[in-house]
Amino acid sequence: MSSTFPLKKFEALKTPFYYYDMELLERTLKKIKEESDRYNFHVHYAIKANFNSRLLELIKNYGFGIDCVSGYEIKRALEVGFDPAGIVFAGVGKSDWEIELGLDNDIACFNVESIPELEVINDLAKRRGKVATVAVRINPNVDANTHSYITTGLDENKFGVNRIDLEDFTDKISKMQNVSLEGLHFHIGSQITDLSSFKDLCVKVNEIQEWFISQKIYPKVINVGGGLGIDYENPDYNSIPQFEDYFKVFKKGLNIKGDQQVHFELGRSVVGQCGSLITRVLYVKKGVKTDFAIVDGGMTDLIRPALYQAYHKIENISSSSPEKKYDIVGPICESSDSFGKAQSLPETARGDFIAVRSAGAYGEVMVSPYNLREFPKAYYSDQL
Ligand code: LLP
Repeated sequence: MSSTFPLKKFEALKTPFYYYDMELLERTLKKIKEESDRYNFHVHYAIKANFNSRLLELIKNYGFGIDCVSGYEIKRALEVGFDPAGIVFAGVGKSDWEIELGLDNDIACFNVESIPELEVINDLAKRRGKVATVAVRINPNVDANTHSYITTGLDENKFGVNRIDLEDFTDKISKMQNVSLEGLHFHIGSQITDLSSFKDLCVKVNEIQEWFISQKIYPKVINVGGGLGIDYENPDYNSIPQFEDYFKVFKKGLNIKGDQQVHFELGRSVVGQCGSLITRVLYVKKGVKTDFAIVDGGMTDLIRPALYQAYHKIENISSSSPEKKYDIVGPICESSDSFGKAQSLPETARGDFIAVRSAGAYGEVMVSPYNLREFPKAYYSDQL
């Protein structure tokens, strides 16, 4: 049984819902600010991890920028009051209206992922009489040692410009009037817990930067993306990721030139641990191998276990009886609709509250209406 959840207050709420520990988010943000300021590093929060406006308000107060991957993410960031001068825009498939939105709001930078995209940005900027600031996203072919669905920096991935095409890219951009190359952008993947992948990235960034310099191009910004993982096994023990070690890797590994800026795009490590999906047990059903705890939340509310076979710690926060093993499954008509197989939980009964932990990142933002399900609401520790 966990004492950190306001169980009494939960009684009145319709399940499933997301519950955010705002105090933990605040402590996490303070830590990121402290550790990044140490080296004058700039952090852009990757809004794709969670675009909930209450969380964004808090993140904004720490002065971080925003990394967006769609026009609607840009709109959300602007609505919440983020400064356009702190918005960067990535993505392999930016539509014309999304590029136009970025141009009209004078966002800081387009992270360009292909030569055809560069041509469209140049063209749309020209029609507006503007010069778009761009960074080239480069695929560095560095293995992030994470799940294949969230690996982005290998040759087989769709992201970024390959090293063999860089000469063509710089040749084309030198002839364009309405784009200005400001930086180099990288992002190798997500949920990276082995910091040696980031060390490998630094080696590649240094090599690639030297190539640019040999072409007389001096990047003002090096953006190394996001990807720092969180501890899904021990969310209470490691509630704040190792930002100190993480930033140190880049300080040590990167050849930072003069007053060059180093940018980061952190998502999961910012919001991952502050959120839980709270669901209630509907039925306990006898199984052949393991009993099933059937809960009212499912893969439509938190898709990570079904999509990536991701582990999330599951707790019965209502019971402190001796433990038994259960498959914790949802109501959706798919066998993949399971939060965890053969998990030890205190003896569980109808009505018990179950917390699926570490669901603050890529949880609420990935809900779906499949089976015509209602979207879960969100509640906050400082408002209950
Ligand atoms: N920058 C770029 C260009 C990205 O594509 C991503 C994540 C980030 C930054 C932020 O990465 P983070 O710090 O959050 O690892 N839905 C998946 C994760 C997808 C990540 C996509 N890109 C999951 O639930 O694991």
